[in-house]
Amino acid sequence: MQFSLHTGDATRASGDLLVIPLFEGDLGPSAPEPLAAADAAFEGKLRAAAAQEGFKAKAEQSFVIHTLGRLGAERVLLLGLGARARYRPEVLRLAAGRAAKTAQRLKVTSLAIAVPTTSHADEALRATVEGLELGAYRFDKYKASAKEDKGGPKLGRVALLLPEGVQKDKALDGAVTLARNVAEAVNWARDLVNEPPNVVTPTRLAQAAQEAAKDAGLKATIGGRKEIERLKMGMFLGVTAGSVEEPKLIHVAYIPKNAKDAKRPPLALVGKAITFDSGGLSLKPADAMVDMKTDMAGSAAVLGAMKVIGALKPPFPVHAFIGACENMPSGTAYRPGDILTARSGKTVEITNTDAEGRLVLGDILTWACEHKPATIVDLATLTGACIVALGNYIVGAFGEDDEAMWSVLEAASNAGEEFWRLPISDLQKDALRSEVADMKNAGERWGGAINAALFLKEFVGDTPWVHLDIAGPSTSPKERGYFGKGATGVGLRTLVELVRQRAADTHDEVPAPKPAKAPRKAAAR
Ligand code: BES
Ligand code: MN
Ligand code: ZN
Repeated sequence: MQFSLHTGDATRASGDLLVIPLFEGDLGPSAPEPLAAADAAFEGKLRAAAAQEGFKAKAEQSFVIHTLGRLGAERVLLLGLGARARYRPEVLRLAAGRAAKTAQRLKVTSLAIAVPTTSHADEALRATVEGLELGAYRFDKYKASAKEDKGGPKLGRVALLLPEGVQKDKALDGAVTLARNVAEAVNWARDLVNEPPNVVTPTRLAQAAQEAAKDAGLKATIGGRKEIERLKMGMFLGVTAGSVEEPKLIHVAYIPKNAKDAKRPPLALVGKAITFDSGGLSLKPADAMVDMKTDMAGSAAVLGAMKVIGALKPPFPVHAFIGACENMPSGTAYRPGDILTARSGKTVEITNTDAEGRLVLGDILTWACEHKPATIVDLATLTGACIVALGNYIVGAFGEDDEAMWSVLEAASNAGEEFWRLPISDLQKDALRSEVADMKNAGERWGGAINAALFLKEFVGDTPWVHLDIAGPSTSPKERGYFGKGATGVGLRTLVELVRQRAADTHDEVPAPKPAKAPRKAAAR
């Protein structure tokens, strides 16, 4: 998609489709400029027609009509944003996503969108561009219909019409560039997750990491089974034992050019990368196994974030650590009853081979801690229990370091991703007590998401750490806003915001004031 910024009269914008996002009440006498102008070109009949069709600019409502030559554009799309009081950039991002999907259905190749007047034009612009790019995403390369369409109409040109009184400037150009980088990275991560598990094997995931690093000017180091053995990652080796695919150890590093910045304590990102989770010998039922190609969504988000971080160039190092393998049943598979020795030295009794993510992550977290990070954030499709608790749209956030937790929650809120903090309570600790080893890998069913977090906690020591269970929101069960059915790329935007936040704090350089007692609520903007 190509974006250009424009000021002036929306009715003169050419192209296949003019999109006018509207708040509830905008259809009344105080219509915003683009609607008022379009309505005038329709001799006052546009608003009447929309009203007649029941369009009230509620969130999720839209209204399309042919302009019959009355406007520069061939059609006009009125897009509901809901109540202005409830506005956040995410509302606009979702609406722009719907506009992109409508444009695709209408086989539109060029559109103009009137960015609505809000308190922060740069944020509105960013949300609009992200929503359009994310909403236009499709994964249909394996379908014959998509092959026939190849070279056919695709939404290519987008004119961004700035709100009244807002002039083009560098900051707005920057907002568009950032939005494009982020959305392209999210769509790249979505592809990795949506690709089938016979394509995205641990080897292919490592290749993707290498390509991403090369594009972004980062350093990628890939190890195989030998390296994992050398590092004595006994839990990782246990999980991969049943698979014929070679496991991969992936390290992607962004190191600032400036020597002083390069010495700052790094941020470490860890992502779960089970390219297919059959459950192993504790085999999953068929229905539960069918979507288990998504069990590497955490690593896809981390790698996608690294692509953006390479362009952002924050004044501190950022490392990504990933252990990629399959979880398969076979004659060489690890068994329930096995005792594995972690890189940290801890011994673990295997009570369920389907609790594999925490085993690989435990060894990877130990490895990450050896790089002395200031903070570790891990993303993992870790537990069905977290989906039971929070559903398909909300990320579960665990961690005992309040400052790290608040910064992640604030980043999520600014990114428009919904997170909810859950406790890591020692009350659940009995769940992991083993009779024969230091602990067992799977406890009782109750509190399953907490038990998994408690297990991971054993491997981070005192390092400030936030664990994000993305089992639910890593895929969307339906088309919604800028989401299609399938991979979402959740977490990536939050990681980017986290890095931007830390970069801003580092640049300020004054010793940071003690954080407030609660996460700053993202002001409605
Ligand atoms: N990858 C799954 C968790 C999952 C479930 C992700 C559904 C996405 C959708 C994980 O490895 C797993 O199997 N967890 C088990 C743990 C249990 C055996 C302690 C679970 O949640 O049932
Ligand atoms: Mn599993
Ligand atoms: Zn899994």
